[in-house]
Amino acid sequence: MTDVGIDGIEVWTGKLQLDLAETFAPAQGEEPGKFTKGLGLYASSLPDVYEDIVTMAANASHDLMERKGLEPEDIGRIDVATESAFDHSKPVSTYVAGCLEQVYDDDFHHANKGERKFACISGTQALDDAYNWIRAGRNRDRAALVIATDTALYARDDPGEATQGAGAVAMLIDEDPDVVAFSTEQGYGSADETDFLKPNQQFPSVDGKRSVQVYLARMREALEDFEAAGGDTHPDNFAFIPFHTPFPGMVRKAAGLGYRHCIRGTDVEEQLADEIGRQPRKEAFDGEDEYFEAIKEYTDSLTETDHYLDWYERTVDPTLDISREVGNWYTGSVHIARVSGLIRALDEGWDITGKELLVGSYGSGAQAEIHAETIQDGWEEEISALTINEQIDARYDLSFDEYEEIHDVHNHDAETDIEPRTTPDGEFAFDGWGRMGERKYTYVE
Ligand code: HMG
Repeated sequence: MTDVGIDGIEVWTGKLQLDLAETFAPAQGEEPGKFTKGLGLYASSLPDVYEDIVTMAANASHDLMERKGLEPEDIGRIDVATESAFDHSKPVSTYVAGCLEQVYDDDFHHANKGERKFACISGTQALDDAYNWIRAGRNRDRAALVIATDTALYARDDPGEATQGAGAVAMLIDEDPDVVAFSTEQGYGSADETDFLKPNQQFPSVDGKRSVQVYLARMREALEDFEAAGGDTHPDNFAFIPFHTPFPGMVRKAAGLGYRHCIRGTDVEEQLADEIGRQPRKEAFDGEDEYFEAIKEYTDSLTETDHYLDWYERTVDPTLDISREVGNWYTGSVHIARVSGLIRALDEGWDITGKELLVGSYGSGAQAEIHAETIQDGWEEEISALTINEQIDARYDLSFDEYEEIHDVHNHDAETDIEPRTTPDGEFAFDGWGRMGERKYTYVE
């Protein structure tokens, strides 16, 4: 069976940054350590006045198509995953195609376009749709363009405000991919949950503490389902484990619990037995509370061992480099975690061709999905073409007053008109509203 997976990838960050320690913390009367150490975040990326989910998606897609030497006729499908859509009917992918048609001679009339919604996990679901479309033999040698794009804004003073972010990830899904090939094995953990939702409102209603517990519970179910599907979960068998990253502290919690689950009954549990004992087994306890207490104590000891810390530094920490600087990109978050790990491997000269990734996606409401990916021969060339670190360094650093104004600019219920802080240059920019309330875009040379 021919491999199907990610053949190319491009990342576009919002062009403004809010420094959490220097700017946000003092204005909120918080200790900087709450954000940098507790959440693991240093800055948020935010969109400038002329940026939104369409411009970021179109700019990432345009860069990707140019780099891969593609024309519209090479694309048979455009799927956008977002939870920041501004229209209940017309999908964002039509706007993105409209933008791209401004810069190509040809059009995308032959491409099937859609929009995927399930909180942050919809980016991975759109990859899955593309994979199935190709596997079903319906692609007629064409690739799918999958774009995860979000402006992840919270209401002012919501506890989630520190985790905001904005950016887009465009991925080309094709046969014989250059970056990673997807496994057929998948695991799901899915339940009707009320932890984070936007019932006809722009900013989410969030039960933050509960959302953390739901993330962990659904991720665990997905891991068990992936194991039941025959997937390998020995943590030492993976180059990286990219997780959905609302903030790096969330991944730190998930990694410790996941590692403990996955080493149960393996050589690693044996190796560590002298140092921290074996994992408590449920059968040995009279009540659930005692068992959970014992498991918690074991996990705390485990995550302090050199063995675990070495694994975390090698397998998880590299996936958080970008997230620390940009915040939560919702649908794009797990995809920047993958990119982040691959950039670190390139910078360090690690030989990871043929190695596996275990990818843990998650969306509130709630669903987790786990699948594996095999790193392909062409990954180094693809990853070395990325400019995300240069984009991060080039962002305009907002004062707190400017941040308040920019938040209002992107708040659908606030009226404000301010000058952009950056200048569009060779990119798509928002250009006002049309006669039916549609958003208009121009390519700025
Ligand atoms: P909070 O309640 O303001 O923060 O917001 P906190 O008091 O829990 O502190 C956070 C951490 O910082 C804690 O660490 C503190 O101890 C530590 P923990 O105990 O958790 O390990 N801390 C400090 N550390 C060092 N120095 C200090 C200091 N002070 C405190 N001085 C909360 C936290 C997650 C609730 C908030 O950010 C929130 O509501 N976020 C939005 C929801 C969210 O991101 N949930 C994550 C799981 S759900 C998900 O991922 C889906 C999502 O992406 C949406 C989707 O799918 O569409 C959100």
